[in-house]
Amino acid sequence: MTTRAATPADLDAIMALEHASFPTDAWSPAMMREELSSPHGFYVVVEEAGRLVGYAGLRAVRGARDADIQTITISESARGRGRGRALLGTLLDEAVGRGVHDVFLEVRADNPVAQALYASEGFAEVGRRPRYYQPDDVDAIVMQLDLRGWVARRGDAATGDDARGPIPADPTDGKGWC
Ligand SMILES: CC(C)(COP(=O)(O)OP(=O)(O)OC[C@H]1O[C@@H](n2cnc3c(N)ncnc32)[C@H](O)[C@@H]1OP(=O)(O)O)[C@@H](O)C(=O)NCCC(=O)NCCS
Repeated sequence: MTTRAATPADLDAIMALEHASFPTDAWSPAMMREELSSPHGFYVVVEEAGRLVGYAGLRAVRGARDADIQTITISESARGRGRGRALLGTLLDEAVGRGVHDVFLEVRADNPVAQALYASEGFAEVGRRPRYYQPDDVDAIVMQLDLRGWVARRGDAATGDDARGPIPADPTDGKGWC
């Protein structure tokens, strides 16, 4: 398994996985191309035997306190083996490097698997966007992660010390599209 920075040459493979993973609300190729080339973006792909099996993206404007998880997906056949968590960790490490304090995302209310992943990394629900996902008419749950807390918990996990603290619960206007 290889994780590397995404390039515009990955667009077709990314779009194939995008349509498979998000059949009713996939991004357009133009939107994805713009994301891949944005100076504020950080996109990575996972490959196995030369085949793209996952991708994820962060939007983090240099100097800004907040960042957004834009998307994350693993191909169906490669799920459940830690790749999603690893990709999320790669994005959060990048956010740490960019000096981000809080990371936001939006997740479909009918996606308990992704919600469980985010909650287990310390993301907490801070709001809802009713009927955000169309045409399915599904609410978006807005989640927030205190990045310094995430770094501290990871350090404690490495030393075997469990010191999970409270997650700030300020309402926000997070714009992650995940
Ligand atoms: C969400 C997604 C990226 C997770 O990737 P993954 O590689 O399967 O996840 P991992 O193996 O790293 O598991 C991470 C956590 O996700 C949750 N999870 C994974 N598979 C699950 C399942 N079948 N049922 C319930 N929870 C599950 C668990 O909390 C798991 O942690 P654990 O292994 O310690 O229990 C993947 O399911 C996916 O691509 N889904 C379709 C696209 C999508 O919904 N993206 C998110 C948009 S917000």
